[in-house]
Amino acid sequence: MNIPFIDLKSQYEIVKGQVQDNIDAVLKHGAYVMGPEIGELEKSLADYCGQKHALACSSGTDALLLALLSLEIKPGDAVLTTPFTFFATAEAIAFMGAVPVFVDIDPETFNISPEGLERTIAALKENNSSGIPLPSSGALSDLGHKVPEKLIPKAIISVDLFGLPCEYDLIEEIARKHDLKLIVDAAQSFGATYHGKSTCAIGHAACTSFFPAKPLGCYGDGGMCFTNDADIYSLMQSLRVHGQGRDRYENVRLGMNARMDTLQAAILLAKIKIFPRELEMRQKAAENYNSLLSSGNIVTPSIPDNMKSAWAQYSILAQDSEHRDAIFQKLKENNVPWAVYYVLPLHLQKSFAYLGYSQGDFPQCEEISRKIFSLPMHPYLEAEAQGKIARTVLSV
Ligand SMILES: Cc1ncc(COP(=O)(O)O)c(C=O)c1O
Repeated sequence: MNIPFIDLKSQYEIVKGQVQDNIDAVLKHGAYVMGPEIGELEKSLADYCGQKHALACSSGTDALLLALLSLEIKPGDAVLTTPFTFFATAEAIAFMGAVPVFVDIDPETFNISPEGLERTIAALKENNSSGIPLPSSGALSDLGHKVPEKLIPKAIISVDLFGLPCEYDLIEEIARKHDLKLIVDAAQSFGATYHGKSTCAIGHAACTSFFPAKPLGCYGDGGMCFTNDADIYSLMQSLRVHGQGRDRYENVRLGMNARMDTLQAAILLAKIKIFPRELEMRQKAAENYNSLLSSGNIVTPSIPDNMKSAWAQYSILAQDSEHRDAIFQKLKENNVPWAVYYVLPLHLQKSFAYLGYSQGDFPQCEEISRKIFSLPMHPYLEAEAQGKIARTVLSV
């Protein structure tokens, strides 16, 4: 039995006809850049998420940059986020010259801890780091941006890790109370809901990724920004195309070339048709894993009642790193693929050494990174394969 980690081939068999028709249409009309499919996709996904504006762009990383730029985050501003995420979340902050300020995670959901967020904001405001790890002032990033003496919190980037929404009632309240912008990094959570609301309809702006392995993936790089604010949206539109004004030869600000290819929009238009069904299939696969693994010595994901995960990954915890290594050995012997998200938390990455964080600063995140691993997860995962995977994991 060959078990892929993610099965894009089975999906392609289902969408092939529509994908090929849509690609053909683009090749015929020839508007490869900002063709009509871009607007069609934006409308379709804004409606799907119940959000006013959607802006297609070149990747999830560029979506984060567009959100930070349009919310007018400036060099030296402090942006609070989780150290337990894909590199791009904090990279986008630092790339702007702003300063990533990490906050430890909740060990059950793996998402940013709202209590930790409150404590870190208080420490920043009082400029008092006693007991709360904060970036060291004066240091320079690779790009020559300096961490200022006094860090002023300006924004939060929350990340819905593995597809599970953060605790948004609490996070939105904190953002309101401290007058912070909230950017939802929904790169892994397109399709997830919090109290029935799409994660892409939360915050001042939300960003997602259509990287092929994401719950809704294209056949290359792609991303999207969402907002309900017409001014932010209008800034995003300008920033996406070199800060353009009334036309493409009037440049009223510095921007990016962050457009999505028309071909990727055409592919996504085909895939969105089967996406709701695929989400249900992911949910079923996750429930099946939960029941197969419930009797074992591993910890299965806990999903709060008010949330629906998009199940970008199915991630579980071993007892400790030795237990995890022994499971990996068995998975290898049985030809079962796995992955570890994330081996090295961001505060311990070389590129963020200038922030001055050290081992032990975020104990929950560090402990989870030693125990966590992800099993194959996709809508076309069969019960038989899940049985084999679960037996292998539980045999250790
Ligand atoms: C949490 C998170 N943020 C941002 C990104 C960046 O998205 P992209 O790869 O489309 O640039 C990813 C992609 O893996 C991600 O998982």
